[in-house]
Amino acid sequence: MGYQNVSFPENSLFLVTGGAGFIGSNLCEAILKMGYKVRCLDDLSTGKQTNIDMLMDNPNYEFIKGDIKDFDTCMKACDGVDYVLNQAAWGSVPQSIEMSLLYCANNIMGTLNMMEAARQNGLKKFVYASSSSVYGDEPNLPKKEGREGNLLPPYAVCKMCDEE
Ligand SMILES: NC(=O)c1ccc[n+]([C@@H]2O[C@H](COP(=O)([O-])OP(=O)(O)OC[C@H]3O[C@@H](n4cnc5c(N)ncnc54)[C@H](O)[C@@H]3O)[C@@H](O)[C@H]2O)c1
Repeated sequence: MGYQNVSFPENSLFLVTGGAGFIGSNLCEAILKMGYKVRCLDDLSTGKQTNIDMLMDNPNYEFIKGDIKDFDTCMKACDGVDYVLNQAAWGSVPQSIEMSLLYCANNIMGTLNMMEAARQNGLKKFVYASSSSVYGDEPNLPKKEGREGNLLPPYAVCKMCDEE
């Protein structure tokens, strides 16, 4: 079943964090095509304005430039929202080794802020973007939950921590 066949209540509002990024901007476009409303929260740290230029005039689209490390921003972004697709994160494995503290602050605390803001606002669902890096050095294919090896870079540790 394709995503086009999934339906939600009329006028549902989706919050896409990291919505100016590669995956998030495509999610925003798909949700708008399905006829629902989208709020995008992105600090444009790695995302691009050009990814969202074509969405800005859509009356069902709202862009908030903001940082998920800031809890108040997360609370405001969750106001009136039904579902969150939490894509906001930094995604470079080498950079996560060079800047491990900043990565933890962004990818762990940012996500926790979003989870807590979603909880306090009584949102219906929170969808989290993890990573295959959580399987670490486990060599077998296909990857299976419950068969993880040792976690490798800080990026993977952050993703696993958010999952837990
Ligand atoms: N692209 C992949 O192959 C892949 C694979 C596995 C997991 N993921 C995960 O999917 C998600 C999206 O990945 P992507 O490839 O679209 O990355 P991307 O870098 O294109 O998008 C991430 C977006 O998050 C935003 N962002 C980062 N920190 C933020 C913060 N503190 N506050 C607000 N916005 C912030 C960035 O500006 C960017 O627009 C990420 O969580 C990533 O870890 C991606």
